[in-house]
Amino acid sequence: MRRVFSGIQPSGELHLGNYLGAVRNWVELQEQYDCYFCIVDYHAITQDYDAAALPARTFDMAVSLLAAGIDPSHCTLFVQSHVHEHTELAWVFNTVTPLGDLERMTQFKDKSKRQESVLAGLLNYPVLQAADVLLYKADLVPVGEDQVQHIELMREIVRKWNAKFGSDVFPEPEAMVGKARRIIGLDGQAKMSKSLDNTIGLLDTPDQIWERLRPAVTDPARVKRTDPGTPEVCNIYNLHKYFSPSDTVTHVAAQCRSAGWGCIECKRVLADNMERTLTDFRHRAAELRAHRERVHEILDDGARRATAVARETMLEVRRHMGLLDSEQPQTPE
Ligand code: TYM
Repeated sequence: MRRVFSGIQPSGELHLGNYLGAVRNWVELQEQYDCYFCIVDYHAITQDYDAAALPARTFDMAVSLLAAGIDPSHCTLFVQSHVHEHTELAWVFNTVTPLGDLERMTQFKDKSKRQESVLAGLLNYPVLQAADVLLYKADLVPVGEDQVQHIELMREIVRKWNAKFGSDVFPEPEAMVGKARRIIGLDGQAKMSKSLDNTIGLLDTPDQIWERLRPAVTDPARVKRTDPGTPEVCNIYNLHKYFSPSDTVTHVAAQCRSAGWGCIECKRVLADNMERTLTDFRHRAAELRAHRERVHEILDDGARRATAVARETMLEVRRHMGLLDSEQPQTPE
């Protein structure tokens, strides 16, 4: 069975961007592949963060993923820092990754521009990402468009390491990008992202959804209620495609073009259709929050299963790289 790996930062609850761009695909893939899904807390600490808030953000992400349909009986769900081999393999890959390759990563350039002092962890972020995927020798990596460059670099790292130490140890993973490759935020411009405060949360209540959706940017050419619009340039129309039935989507486009509906009416229909999809997620999340120990058990079990695979890979890596075996007996678990 082919193996899938993907990761997500512990940014608290899921929003429509990371849900539609990645997690919705994970839910489908877990039925057909041997899937590993990881909450990447070591990645989250490469930028300023609140250490006191991180445990809750990681826990909330686990709740969101489970509520969205990630099923621990069909995949392995775990927290990155619970499997120590991730940082070990990252160090190994640092030794075959040219500095120039890291410096030209778009995400690094964007994020480092916004900082006074750029940390080495931010530069090495894609190396850790390569270690995540390759510890499990995954073939496929379902992600949104913004991660494709990191996966290209990952393939480069594999080629370099394999050429130097063992030509058939690591496969070259492939990015799988779905239809929702880049969900735009409520500002109608940038990628939907928690840090830009342009999101709708997957677990938001109907009132919260409406509060966010009502002022969201639509077709800028529709200034007055009677101005006809162009649905193709409107982010609200785009979101309808993910939540409204196809005949409604066609109707929305016609009403926009003829100015039959104003933007508020169009948003009201979207909010109602979103609510139909999201209500189940909210109920499942509430149930999980009432049984916190169950969530911890799932993550512990996931870490155990992931560690078993990760250790095997590291033994192989150590052997190929000439790292001396330890005479110490391994500590029993
Ligand atoms: P992160 O946490 O930023 O995002 C998680 C996943 O959601 C996708 N995504 C989006 N897709 C479409 N539109 C959006 N607005 C949107 N926002 C987020 C992302 O592309 C991603 O697939 N570096 C990764 C985490 C990571 C990882 C890995 C991924 C660490 N190790 C190994 C794959 C394999 C990240 O920051 O994702």
